Amino acid sequence: MTIPSLDATGKVVIVTGGSKGLGRAMALGFAEAGADVVVASRKLEPCQLVVDEIRAMGRRAIAVACHVAEWGQCSALIDATIAEFGRIDVLVNNAGIAPVPPSLLEVTEDLFDKTIGVNLRGPLRLTALAAKHMPSGGSIINISSKASLHPTSFTVVYAAAKAGLNALTKAAATEFGPRGIRVNCIVCGTFHTDSLHKSIPTEDMQTQMAGRVSLRRIAAADEIVGTALYLASDASSYLTGELILLDGG
Ligand SMILES: NC(=O)c1ccc[n+]([C@@H]2O[C@H](COP(=O)([O-])OP(=O)(O)OC[C@H]3O[C@@H](n4cnc5c(N)ncnc54)[C@H](OP(=O)(O)O)[C@@H]3O)[C@@H](O)[C@H]2O)c1
Repeated sequence: MTIPSLDATGKVVIVTGGSKGLGRAMALGFAEAGADVVVASRKLEPCQLVVDEIRAMGRRAIAVACHVAEWGQCSALIDATIAEFGRIDVLVNNAGIAPVPPSLLEVTEDLFDKTIGVNLRGPLRLTALAAKHMPSGGSIINISSKASLHPTSFTVVYAAAKAGLNALTKAAATEFGPRGIRVNCIVCGTFHTDSLHKSIPTEDMQTQMAGRVSLRRIAAADEIVGTALYLASDASSYLTGELILLDGG
């Protein structure tokens, strides 16, 4: 028996929201594992900085500006990937926003549309577009949140969007399974990133939050990389439609 490896040499990986936080960590992690990477987010410059880091490792990479809620921009991202690399092996639907309304009563139409747009509408479209370019199979990895399983009134729209992403994961796994495309979801607990520091700004609040985790700490951003590499590799060849809770217990 050959033990499957997490090596990603020769794979082409798209990471949305790849300019910072968990997306940046995964873009660099995939490159470290041998992949060529498309780094996408709304702002091109921060993506370009990640691309520079990846090229310094000897891998190929491009930066693409893409607002994932805009379906035309999703098509342009896929087209740019095919034009540069001719294939897609892995799509990581990581881009996300988590605006916090004061209460359910104060959710505006704009907040609702933006939150659903980035966290659900974009991933759904990109999943469909990427799957068309995976004739020999592939892996789609959605980045969800524990809020989807434990919603509160503050996270109501975000939680609903991520719960939709969980459902999308299972639906897409069913549809694309016969074509060898696996679709899985990493349901994240708390990771040190800009978005976390915005919503939980003080050290006291972060310590309280860490106290509710079995491992008694908030994760570093690069602690998502092992799970992402696993889901992209043959080490998870029989795993699809699954929600993997990555939350420190
Ligand atoms: N950090 C946590 O504790 C945690 C917990 C649970 C789930 N998550 C999920 O993990 C993912 C990454 O979170 P993070 O903490 O790394 O966030 P982050 O540090 O705020 O980074 C978000 C990334 O998404 C991009 N982005 C935002 N809106 C976008 C849009 N409309 N189109 C394309 N890209 C967009 C941002 O770049 P631009 O501004 O240039 O677009 C940035 O690259 C999200 O889906 C989040 O919901 C995070």
